Amino acid sequence: MDSRQKLTGMTVFNSMLKLGVNIDHVATLRQARRGYYPDPILAAQICEKAGADSIVCHLREDRRHIQDNDVMQLRKIVRTRLNLEMSLNPEIIKITGHIKPDIATIVPERRQEITTEGGLDVIKYFTKIKNTVSFLQDKHIAVSLFIAPVKEQIDQAKKSGATIIELHTGAYADARTTLANARELKKILIATQYAKQIGLTVSAGHGLNYENTSVIAQISDIQELNIGHSIISESIYIGLESAVKKMLNLMKIKK
Ligand code: PXP
Repeated sequence: MDSRQKLTGMTVFNSMLKLGVNIDHVATLRQARRGYYPDPILAAQICEKAGADSIVCHLREDRRHIQDNDVMQLRKIVRTRLNLEMSLNPEIIKITGHIKPDIATIVPERRQEITTEGGLDVIKYFTKIKNTVSFLQDKHIAVSLFIAPVKEQIDQAKKSGATIIELHTGAYADARTTLANARELKKILIATQYAKQIGLTVSAGHGLNYENTSVIAQISDIQELNIGHSIISESIYIGLESAVKKMLNLMKIKK
């Protein structure tokens, strides 16, 4: 048991846990030269072959990485589940309704940010979110809301009609002291238990890597972890298939 495991007091691994691989950064590399490689479609196929349970991508308003055509191709080739991250921009909502991913994850989006920095404010944007959830669900798309591990946000997420929440693990990943780490971990643990209790499916993600994921993977009510940057980065050294398998191993997911 390492020191982080001692913090949770848990050693039982979560047998239901799934891994979603976010392939945005394959497209980031391609867009650096506006070329045609590396190809996120091929990357998605390699991730699935390695055992990923879903493919995640984010069609950002500024199209900085994933492009419309990528999403259309992914919809055709993904054999597991396609989880499309989206903002509340009307054009993006329309595209999502047209593409019909298996899951649409509503995320906040600011043009200036390096990555999705915070959780969605479901309290502030409740009406807009509720309408978007029902628009997407009418098209048989499961809807997930990417939120901070905060009770009030979870309550509003439930009220909006969404059936899934993805807890933002960024604060946990960024914690620089043992104390801060334990505090953020506890928030995720409590939020997960509460959300499960009120009937929500819980996933989590952001900033998870080969060092900080195994503790989160022990939270038994989390169904899926969505991980991108660390896996794509590791693939530079060991290849994408091995990088995905390495993460699955760490999460104790047997394939
Ligand atoms: N989940 C959501 C909702 C995200 O927006 C992101 C980042 O695109 C991730 C998971 C993956 O985060 P990371 O790339 O830090 O693993």
